[in-house]
Amino acid sequence: MPNRTSTAASSSKFATMRIVIMGPPGVGKGTESERLIDMFGISHISTGAIFRDMFETDDPIGAIAKSYINRGELVPDDITNKIVRQRLSKQDPNQGFLFDGYPRNINQAEAFDVMLDDLNLTLDAVINISAPDELTIDRIAGRRVCSSCGAVYHVLHKKPNNEGVCDVCGAPLIQREDDMKETVRRRLKIYNDLTAPVIDHYKDKPFLHIIDGSGTMEDTHQAVMDALGVAP
Ligand code: AP5
Repeated sequence: MPNRTSTAASSSKFATMRIVIMGPPGVGKGTESERLIDMFGISHISTGAIFRDMFETDDPIGAIAKSYINRGELVPDDITNKIVRQRLSKQDPNQGFLFDGYPRNINQAEAFDVMLDDLNLTLDAVINISAPDELTIDRIAGRRVCSSCGAVYHVLHKKPNNEGVCDVCGAPLIQREDDMKETVRRRLKIYNDLTAPVIDHYKDKPFLHIIDGSGTMEDTHQAVMDALGVAP
């Protein structure tokens, strides 16, 4: 589900927007991405979700990715960049997209620039959502995800209608294997060491927006709408 294209495709100028959402684990990238793709009808390209979908297949890349992800480490760049290039090459040029979780280090940011250049594409917005580590750790502790479609819930902030059951498809809710506390701390360290510097890669671009993600989901959404210039 996280790499789906919304059926509620929008005909507005936002339907062709090309957006990157960055931020630490648990800050709410996936949550906000789901709202944007539903509003704009653009494709959601989450590298984390692509890897998790591969866990269940025979593709040997899935097993390799799983070993890195469950240790809280980045999947090697050669694998990740190749998957993104393949996915981008299939993208309808008339439809926008939202990257969630890519690029994640400087090497990926540079490779992404080359891919976009090759396809004659430019970005419209890079949105970095930030929040203190302790807050994102708490959010991840309460996260539950659908074991089938990947829909995301929270035990306090986004409860399903029936406890432990996905509203979308009825499958059981589970915790992600990489959401163990120690693994989350490793993911945060990697974010701070390798991913946060990617913000600098875009610092001279007029389309970089830094958003405070420490409020409610609605606060974050409103700040993103303001940054994108979506009228209330
Ligand atoms: P990925 O799947 O990208 O995970 P992540 O970046 O660690 O982000 P999360 O999915 O943990 O959090 P999120 O920000 O989407 O938060 P969410 O909306 O769920 O990557 C996983 C792994 O895959 C990586 O560690 C790496 O190993 C590998 N990988 C992926 N991309 C890669 C790449 N490019 N290169 C190499 N390796 C890669 O929200 C969290 C919880 O909080 C939810 O329960 C939600 O309901 C709740 N919530 C959200 N917002 C709020 C709010 N404002 N207030 C209260 N609760 C909230």
